[in-house]
Amino acid sequence: MRILVVGNGGREHALLWKLSRDDPSAELYATRPNGGMAGLARAVPIAPTDIEALAGWARAEIIDLAVIGPEVPLAQGIADRFAKFGTPVFGPSAAAARIESSKAYAKDLMREAGVPTAGYRTFRDLEAAEGHLVEVGAPVVVKASGLAAGKGAVVCETVEEATLAVRSMLADFRFGEAGREVVIEEFMEGEELSVFALTDGENVVTLLPSQDHKRIGDGDTGPNTGGMGAYGPVSIATDALLGEVRDLVLLPTLAALAADDAPFRGLLYAGLMLTDAGPKVVEFNCRFGDPETQVVLPMMASPLLPLLVQIASGGSIAGMTAAARDGAALTTVLASGGYPGSYEKGKPITIPEDVESEHVLVFHAGTAISDGGLVTSGGRVLAVTGVGATLQEASGKSVAAAERIGFEGATYRRDIGWREFARAEAGRP
Ligand code: AMP
Ligand code: GLY
Repeated sequence: MRILVVGNGGREHALLWKLSRDDPSAELYATRPNGGMAGLARAVPIAPTDIEALAGWARAEIIDLAVIGPEVPLAQGIADRFAKFGTPVFGPSAAAARIESSKAYAKDLMREAGVPTAGYRTFRDLEAAEGHLVEVGAPVVVKASGLAAGKGAVVCETVEEATLAVRSMLADFRFGEAGREVVIEEFMEGEELSVFALTDGENVVTLLPSQDHKRIGDGDTGPNTGGMGAYGPVSIATDALLGEVRDLVLLPTLAALAADDAPFRGLLYAGLMLTDAGPKVVEFNCRFGDPETQVVLPMMASPLLPLLVQIASGGSIAGMTAAARDGAALTTVLASGGYPGSYEKGKPITIPEDVESEHVLVFHAGTAISDGGLVTSGGRVLAVTGVGATLQEASGKSVAAAERIGFEGATYRRDIGWREFARAEAGRP
């Protein structure tokens, strides 16, 4: 089987790792692989966003399955292109990917389908948005409607702060086109949960729920990032809660997309806030999450490949399941000094050979090979996953391994999973 993975971050490294275990004889290809993916996949020297060239390449190379990692090519229509050329592709059409690429669209769809989410209004006009902020007051959340690499949401404590955020988007065009429309939404309180649902557009197979840590600093302080670490399982994500998420969030959303001529085949990621009034949607993504994938796939006891193949080939996943292994996994992201602001690249990375083991996995994100050595090439550099019988054990393994990896300016959080540990300490379920 010839499989192409589009994308070259930690998520895609984890996908390649899992697929190579599911089918050791598969021939794996990846677009511009990072330093860690290079050992698992042959390089395709085409950018993930050059969707025409990639579709042509996949057809010429008779690729049996293309798995699309990032949201940008999906929003550009990569799945539509591949499908047109007859290449089975895992990932939604551009129309269905709007669930992530337009927050305004996602919110309207949720409202119509009765899916629980924060109250909101959308604006293109600055004065109208400013007037609305004065009316609703703070705390409030201001979001660029389009894709902004996880940086387009501003949680505002005051109306002044929210006004500045709205101006930066609607007057200063800080997020370009993505911020020409803003969503102003009600602030929700609670713990966050990421739920991945593999779907054929109608049926869902949910994977292990996990929790991301978006802020740069320990104790969830400082600016938002793409994600600094994750863990799973999450004890408050009970089977009953997951059932509620399936019935109140996932299935109605899929039905609404299908009714809108945008059936969703791929991975629907529900970012949830577990509020006192039940789970509410913070956002949808149209792809695997990063760094949650680096936890969810190591925790997956059953193969992923048959589900991807079935979905990509237009079949049904009714009756299919996914099993998680016992224990827990936790990943710590090592980032470049300065991230999520500006940072330097090209720093040599040292990973002692005995760091990786059956229970410690080092997934590469922003790494490259330069002059035969491994160097940094992005903001998030590595995701170090520990797997153990308990979360405590997984955390110990992840942090101990992160400590042994070195590059100039490396920063990482040492408290991933802290809410779970606080819960355990307080004796709460
Ligand atoms: P988003 O890009 O929509 O996922 O938002 C990024 C992050 O901002 C989320 O993971 C939350 O931590 C926070 N956030 C977004 N929307 C809200 C909201 N309505 N209430 C509270 N926090 C939010
Ligand atoms: N971890 C958040 C995301 O993938 O969008």
